[in-house]
Amino acid sequence: MSHVLSRREFLAAAATGAAASALPISVASAQASNTESTAGSIAGNASTSAPAPAAADIYVAPTGERELVIGSLDDLEAQARKILPPGAFAYIASGADNQVTIRSNREELDRIRLLPRYLVGKPAPDLSTTLLGEKLSMPIITAPMGAQGLAHESAEIGAARGTGEAGTLYTMSTAANRTIEEVAAATRGPKWFQIYLHDDRGPSRELLQRAEAAGFTAIVFTIDAFAPGASDDTVRLGFSFPPNLPLVNSKTPFFKRSLGWDDVEFIQRTTRLPVILKGVVSPELAREAVKRGVAAIQVSNHGGRGLDGIPATITLLPGIVEAVDGRVPVIMDSGIRRGTDVFKALALGADAVALGRPVLYGLALGGSRGVKSVYDRIAAELQRAMLIAGVSTIDEINSDYIYEG
Ligand code: FNR
Repeated sequence: MSHVLSRREFLAAAATGAAASALPISVASAQASNTESTAGSIAGNASTSAPAPAAADIYVAPTGERELVIGSLDDLEAQARKILPPGAFAYIASGADNQVTIRSNREELDRIRLLPRYLVGKPAPDLSTTLLGEKLSMPIITAPMGAQGLAHESAEIGAARGTGEAGTLYTMSTAANRTIEEVAAATRGPKWFQIYLHDDRGPSRELLQRAEAAGFTAIVFTIDAFAPGASDDTVRLGFSFPPNLPLVNSKTPFFKRSLGWDDVEFIQRTTRLPVILKGVVSPELAREAVKRGVAAIQVSNHGGRGLDGIPATITLLPGIVEAVDGRVPVIMDSGIRRGTDVFKALALGADAVALGRPVLYGLALGGSRGVKSVYDRIAAELQRAMLIAGVSTIDEINSDYIYEG
């Protein structure tokens, strides 16, 4: 019973927040604080709250399409909080438990110091790179994220389009609100499909086959999550996926709980596409994965949404890079917010990084154009970092630019 009431609370807040999202941000901000206090009072007294009106059962996401002026990707979180319903915002923004990992992701990136080289006579920086045969405008790609319809009406279509317009790669989540075929058609840019396995292999096989047929060029197998990310705030707000935003491909947000190397083999057998292992946090696992023919490693702690207490990915990266020893590309995600963060990850051996929440905030605030603005901003920052550091190509970024003290 309390579960039903709290879901209503979330949806009621959703409707209020969505109405606010159609307004300019300054006005939306005032409405959003109403939304927060409404949700707070209901959450504090669930047994006496009146059921929300039927219309509130429809989640209405932001719809605006606009270019964003972005000072820092960090600014986007506060702006998105103003226009998204509290439950949806908490689902996107929060980390698990005490949020130790989500904080360390940032703290450890900030702790690293860089040392530029001056008077080296380098040409202007070129950010382009190649990852598993895909030509990218920058070594930054979109991480797979579920239920993007929470952020914007265009959902995965807007995010894929914006990423493609920035000239880089979109990873589609199994837990998407749009079909594999719709997302494939939305971008001419490179695209990978992320798989969460079902208990039954039939639906998983079908997803893999559809992704290959639709033109996705690699499969990202996520090994560190089994259900939607739950934080203290999503529990307090009774967050669940709104019924009018179905997960159209997977039909469920709950996935196979017991995973082993036989599952990796199943995916490798079922698709001809290269398989990337996402969620690698130890050198041992990375070494075994390479031995078993995995095409790339994605070092990730799921943006601090999984096991709280896992170290920052930038801390784990060097050991994994050493274990992989250049045999396959290494991608890193979790906490990347700045061009200098990208530079640091590349200097410590990553071939590329993936961007998570900032893409969803850009989507919420400006649709596909907002996503493109996020990439334009971080690319400009990386370009500036390369220019000052004295490197002209992505391949030249190495540990010589890390200050060891
Ligand atoms: C995720 N992430 C994720 N990963 C995945 O493999 N499949 C998924 O469906 C999802 N869903 C998802 C939803 C939301 C709202 C977020 C924020 C994240 C994890 C994602 O791919 C990536 O690892 C982190 O988001 C990277 O950290 P930052 O950049 O968000 O700090």
